[in-house]
Amino acid sequence: MPLETYLDHAASTPLRPEAREAWTAAVARHHANPTGAHAAARAARRALDEARATLAATLGRQPGEIVFTSGGSESDNLAVRGVAARRPGAVVCGAGEHHAVLDPVGRLGGTSVPLTRRGSVDLDALAATLDALDRVALVSVMAVNNETGAITDVAAVAEVVARHAPGALVHTDAVQAVSWIDVDEATAAADLVSVTAHKIGGPVGVGALVVADGVEL
Ligand SMILES: Cc1ncc(COP(=O)(O)O)c(C=O)c1O
Repeated sequence: MPLETYLDHAASTPLRPEAREAWTAAVARHHANPTGAHAAARAARRALDEARATLAATLGRQPGEIVFTSGGSESDNLAVRGVAARRPGAVVCGAGEHHAVLDPVGRLGGTSVPLTRRGSVDLDALAATLDALDRVALVSVMAVNNETGAITDVAAVAEVVARHAPGALVHTDAVQAVSWIDVDEATAAADLVSVTAHKIGGPVGVGALVVADGVEL
């Protein structure tokens, strides 16, 4: 028996047996193109639709709002770069975001907002930052921090955004929130929500971005 005790679940979790079973059954059964018209393709499509509906229910969203990605990094990049490509204005994020948000925001010339001593986004600093900008396209704040566990009140952030940058979209990186807090409630105010499977016992290389109805990327 190996003497290793793996504790770094904030970085990645071992695959749960039920996830392994579902994963291996799905890849063994479905190899057809889910957009095809023949029976094997339709079966693959049904499996995909079921997965989409299950995730949507977990996140309190509609199935049509789920965009599957290769993980949290792709979801975050898609949210930041996708919004910036479609809407004029600055991109803003919390200073403690994961690099999957910090880096694209930096490359786009965006602004980061300081955190409170408890590690969540400082709402007064956020309001001041938004007031100082002519136009804001996106504000991105993580729901739960991957290093400190600090929880940011996404609804309170969305209220500040609605008052100080009306029309700006809100993205939350909820990668560390799923299975620890009530994720549907915690992220309900966001237009875009990033999640990933390998933090909660799912396979590496599977993630999703919630894109609220009406939001274009
Ligand atoms: C808060 C946060 N966002 C994004 C990511 C990136 O997710 P992934 O490893 O699925 O690309 C991580 C992973 O460390 C994370 O902790």
